[in-house]
Amino acid sequence: MGRRGKPSAPGALLFISHLDDPAAWKRELTSRIPGLGYRVGPGLTDADDVEVALVWAPPPGELKRYPNLKAILSLGAGVDHILNDPELPRGVPIARLVDPMLTRLMSEYVLLAALRHHREFDVFERHQRRRLWEYRFPPDAARRRVGVMGLGVLGADAAAKLAANGFAVQGWSRRPKRIAGARTYHGPRQLERFLNATDVLVCLLPLTPATRGLLDRRVFAALPKGAFLVNPSRGALLVDDDLIEALDSGHLAGATLDVFHREPLPRDHPFWRHPKVLVTPHIAAAGYPETAAPQVAENVRRALAGRPLLHPVDPEAGY
Ligand SMILES: NC(=O)c1ccc[n+]([C@@H]2O[C@H](COP(=O)([O-])OP(=O)(O)OC[C@H]3O[C@@H](n4cnc5c(N)ncnc54)[C@H](OP(=O)(O)O)[C@@H]3O)[C@@H](O)[C@H]2O)c1
Repeated sequence: MGRRGKPSAPGALLFISHLDDPAAWKRELTSRIPGLGYRVGPGLTDADDVEVALVWAPPPGELKRYPNLKAILSLGAGVDHILNDPELPRGVPIARLVDPMLTRLMSEYVLLAALRHHREFDVFERHQRRRLWEYRFPPDAARRRVGVMGLGVLGADAAAKLAANGFAVQGWSRRPKRIAGARTYHGPRQLERFLNATDVLVCLLPLTPATRGLLDRRVFAALPKGAFLVNPSRGALLVDDDLIEALDSGHLAGATLDVFHREPLPRDHPFWRHPKVLVTPHIAAAGYPETAAPQVAENVRRALAGRPLLHPVDPEAGY
């Protein structure tokens, strides 16, 4: 039956993820929406009843198989794992995940990484391996300038928590934005000024055509000598070789990286062994069914009723 045809059964949700627990999501959603059909994909043969898809990294070409699809809901805050499907059905609205727990986890990660660099635990970890006892004291946090790229749900929360911990915080976004306690910049023309005044660069941008490869040698050169990079956004924003060059030349002092071009990070990648790089395995933050379900359930209800979604994605902008 085609997209315009009447579905043969009440609306069903299609769940696809190799990382998330389908049973936990089923519990949370079917208890909130009585009668909701719940089907786990990919590759359903009878697909006509599927009206909403809740997905993480669906196989390319998969979503076009569901002719009555009214909404695609992301199981993550980012949507690059959906938009990168060349056969994505056109005109089906997409929504991001906004989960208070995910936001809290991301801010913890950012704060921990910023404090680790600020208090030089990365240096002390290296010293311990050499049994080296050396006094080092940090500057006042108010003189450590943390620059947050991306001031959306995650960037704004991280900026507020960094400011609450005494850092001098500034942010950069696409459009002008006000954040309490932070100086803000926007657009490509203000990027260099933002970078020139950033000691710890935190990237919380989405992966889009405009941000792919943004963290390159020009960005690193615009940072002051001794700056740090914290990247829990997406690996494809970073030009790996440019970072290694900036670290090896001594221009950058260290990097905390959670996301990579290829995941798992290949065993022979130089980041694994680089003394100034901390690798974490894409664990900065995740959506939790218990805390994210109210927002997802509301979007399922909206999709089934043909109403606009919460946290919609602009496919043109790519986020
Ligand atoms: N590592 C992990 O575990 C993990 C977990 C969750 C999320 N993430 C990543 O975090 C990203 C951010 O999530 P979010 O919920 O905060 O997204 P969001 O609410 O959509 O915010 C995106 C921010 O980036 C800015 N931006 C987008 N394109 C830009 C550009 N070309 N130049 C300058 N600024 C630009 C936006 O500017 P405007 O304010 O002007 O629109 C906005 O402030 C996700 O896309 C995902 O990749 C990673």
